Amino acid sequence: MAKLHPFNRRDFLKVAGAGLSVFTLPALVAAKTADGFIDLRATKTPQRLAGENYAASNLWLYNDQSPGPELRVKQGGIVRVRFTNELDEPTSIHWHGIRIVNSMDGVSGLTQEPVKPGEAFDYVFEVHDAGTFWYHAHNKSWEQVARGLYGSLIVEEPQPLVDREHDITLVIDDWRLGDDGTIDLASLGNLGDWSHAGRLGNWLTVNGKSQPTFKLVKGETYRLRLINAANARILQIDPSAFGAKVIGYDGFLFAEPRETQGEVLAVTSAQRVDLLLTPDDASVKMLNDVGDFALQEISSREALSIALFEVKERKSTAAPSLKLTLHQNEIAEPDMGSAKAVSLNMAGGAMGRMGQMMYRGKKMKRGDFERTGQMWSFNGIANLGEEPLFRANKGETIVLTTDNQTGWPHGIHLHGHHFQVLELNGKPLKHRDWRDTFTIDRDETVKIAFVADNPGKWLLHCHMLEHAAAGMNTWFEVS
Ligand code: C2O
Ligand code: CU
Repeated sequence: MAKLHPFNRRDFLKVAGAGLSVFTLPALVAAKTADGFIDLRATKTPQRLAGENYAASNLWLYNDQSPGPELRVKQGGIVRVRFTNELDEPTSIHWHGIRIVNSMDGVSGLTQEPVKPGEAFDYVFEVHDAGTFWYHAHNKSWEQVARGLYGSLIVEEPQPLVDREHDITLVIDDWRLGDDGTIDLASLGNLGDWSHAGRLGNWLTVNGKSQPTFKLVKGETYRLRLINAANARILQIDPSAFGAKVIGYDGFLFAEPRETQGEVLAVTSAQRVDLLLTPDDASVKMLNDVGDFALQEISSREALSIALFEVKERKSTAAPSLKLTLHQNEIAEPDMGSAKAVSLNMAGGAMGRMGQMMYRGKKMKRGDFERTGQMWSFNGIANLGEEPLFRANKGETIVLTTDNQTGWPHGIHLHGHHFQVLELNGKPLKHRDWRDTFTIDRDETVKIAFVADNPGKWLLHCHMLEHAAAGMNTWFEVS
């Protein structure tokens, strides 16, 4: 992994330590309208991010909360959201990772017109897959998501793995705060960020709070759902450092829990990781210098505790028994025999070869990069071209080989489908995990496969939102 900037912890961690918040369950649930819709509004909401001693930031949130209300639905159920835009600019909501009907995918300019200020839009869709998903703004995402427009969307299995008390969502974000402790709005749209690693923050929150403490009971098993809602930061975690097992990525559970044994997991923007954790004496001892133990981000030289866990002894003796069958979503296996091969070459950005780049049908010349803000390309084309990257017939298997010729890591997201990651640098991977976003480091080649079985026009883009805005954005069509 390329080296990431360390968090600027100088002033901020002191503040964080002073204001430790203790809570167990995240977010309020949203109110319902008389006709049974969840009432979701994009709001302009001043909120203090860095603590009581600092002024409020001008955030854009769902229902005045950061993160937005957690939406929960049973697998096979219907999500009904009446969305009202109370911002001064157009927006729309994308349901990230949901294999959804195309008209509800929420991509402004591709699957719907953005919702204008003061207007409303009804999102109604069935959810086929259980798992950990999220929702976020999908118009000028680089600004709207950075200002707080996101929340978790949990689709419950028919037989949940654990009960609600033991099911903990952690929506993680890195905000960029200025010296006055408020969100640094002046840096939004900074082309230096756009051409480098994206807009990295310096203030880490979980469910809107800095270093929250979760209270757990020894010997009981918890499911932790990690969602990386940061614009561009790759979080690095080591679940084995506190005895957690990994049970799934991007909403899809593995067949068996996995012990990672010191392996560092990179969690790119938009990716999710589900963990299973049973605190016992050993796990509590592992990191006992910070509370009882902590989930830490380890990309910087010094580990930063994302969330703290406080472990209580059990009152009664018997821990609730748990039958550990991991739910498998139904998804078509790629048919490699008849697959269509598509290749995607990523170029551009700082310290990379720009090569020849086309934008809106024209060759880009010196000076165009700054004028248009376009500096990354897929197969030589910056941003959405007239023609899709590929067309597929419904049911056709697509094998996509991505070659990262830039100097930076990226996280590539496919809309409307989950795919299997097959190979890294030409070598088959041990596990063919299902994902909706894959990480690709500089000079790497990643091969994925999926059955294109969801009709419509779908985006394929880097989920480092500045990279997407600056050109790493294309589309494909399934008919
Ligand atoms: Cu999470 Cu195109 O989005
Ligand atoms: Cu990128």
